[in-house]
Amino acid sequence: MGKNPYMKSEPPPLPTRPYVITVKGTDVRVEVNPAALPEADHGEEGSLLALLMAAGFHEVEHVCGGVCACSTCHVYVTRGLVQSNEASDEELDMLDTAPALRPSSRLACQCVPTGASDVEIEIPSWNRNAVKEGH
Ligand code: FES
Repeated sequence: MGKNPYMKSEPPPLPTRPYVITVKGTDVRVEVNPAALPEADHGEEGSLLALLMAAGFHEVEHVCGGVCACSTCHVYVTRGLVQSNEASDEELDMLDTAPALRPSSRLACQCVPTGASDVEIEIPSWNRNAVKEGH
């Protein structure tokens, strides 16, 4: 029994319907078009991190670059959590290292919404990237 810790899980399924991502406490609103997903430079394709960064929002920390090897992209998915992919064992292991976990905790680089509902996230203040990149 058990699982090869070096085996990477299958990539999460991509969204099939358009939806909107908002970030609590900001006026950020990202409209996601499943037919035109941006190329993922950071995180899984279709992940919250990839979509937010492609839209010019760089405030979610992502020290490992989005490869599920830190927990600095920890966010609370306050809407749309159950309409997102299930967290992999790798993500859960990494999340265990993050402070102030809640049932809505996810790694933004691994959480891929299906588009079945809009999504709202909250960024823990300590994971907010103070340096605005790319602007
Ligand atoms: S950026 Fe490191 S785990 Fe998401």
